[in-house]
Amino acid sequence: MIRITVPATTANLGPGFDTLGLALSLYDVFEVERAPQWQVDGCEPKFSGEDNLFLQSFRHTLHLLGLEPIPVHLKISAEIPVARGLGSSAALCVGGAVAALLLVRECSGREMKPGFDPDELEFLVDAASEMEGHPDNAAPGVLGGFCVAIMAETCQGAARHVIASRNPVASDWRFHALVPPFELETKKARAVLPQSISRADAVFNVGRAALVSQAICRADAAMLACACEDRIHQPYRKALIPGYDEILTACKAAGADAVWLSGAGPTLVALTVGPAKTGEFTGRIESILKAGGQWVHKSLSPDNLGVSYVCNPD
Ligand code: HSE
Repeated sequence: MIRITVPATTANLGPGFDTLGLALSLYDVFEVERAPQWQVDGCEPKFSGEDNLFLQSFRHTLHLLGLEPIPVHLKISAEIPVARGLGSSAALCVGGAVAALLLVRECSGREMKPGFDPDELEFLVDAASEMEGHPDNAAPGVLGGFCVAIMAETCQGAARHVIASRNPVASDWRFHALVPPFELETKKARAVLPQSISRADAVFNVGRAALVSQAICRADAAMLACACEDRIHQPYRKALIPGYDEILTACKAAGADAVWLSGAGPTLVALTVGPAKTGEFTGRIESILKAGGQWVHKSLSPDNLGVSYVCNPD
């Protein structure tokens, strides 16, 4: 049996629509073993069929590796809330891709060594992104840290589909996920976006997305505060999220350094740096949440390791 652990992700980070993502310390754990027939435990019945996204990714990756599908028994222990913009679909796709790759290692008689080679990591990012459609979630899910990821079909000479650059995130940065009590399907959250944007809005976002990247790599929270505004997706999506403006205002009032819509939403993520500011923010936001609404606060660290696995755990 193999146990695979995949971190949650927060994508876009404001202006970096479909290109920036960061891994967080909230995890889905998948236990996989060969079985006489497909079986899924640990999730709602509607997800426990053979079309479970993990299994789809598993079969897709086996196909990429030139192997026939092999039935497995999958047990899911999920911390990442479903359809909340924290990368739950990406975690399933990453998990399935990893399970397929580990099976190939086993088939080829190689001793199961810990971790992954750089070429295996690239393969996993590609396979999971192809399945999930969003490299800004799949790349940090595989690699951990903060990732810039693009689909490279327009990049001449690119040998693979996704080009991802990974950077570690400062360990004293705290990411506060404010999770609403309702789901928002990514498809619906993408359907409200305009097909084209003005040059002024494109320039607004391009500059800020580049600056977000610099701010995280330099651990400069003040720069991130200025950089994480957006005109491509957040202004359109907030209409789908009752309470968005109130939670955003509450986060700012509670002292957040920066706030953004996590992925396609509906979760918002706020940043604080250092124990004093984090403690103050946590006290204030929790008392605001207690006073009204059913949003949940999860205080998370960056995950700088990405996907991991253990073979035959006790
Ligand atoms: N970048 C994608 C979006 C992430 O915002 O739609 C989807 O999880």
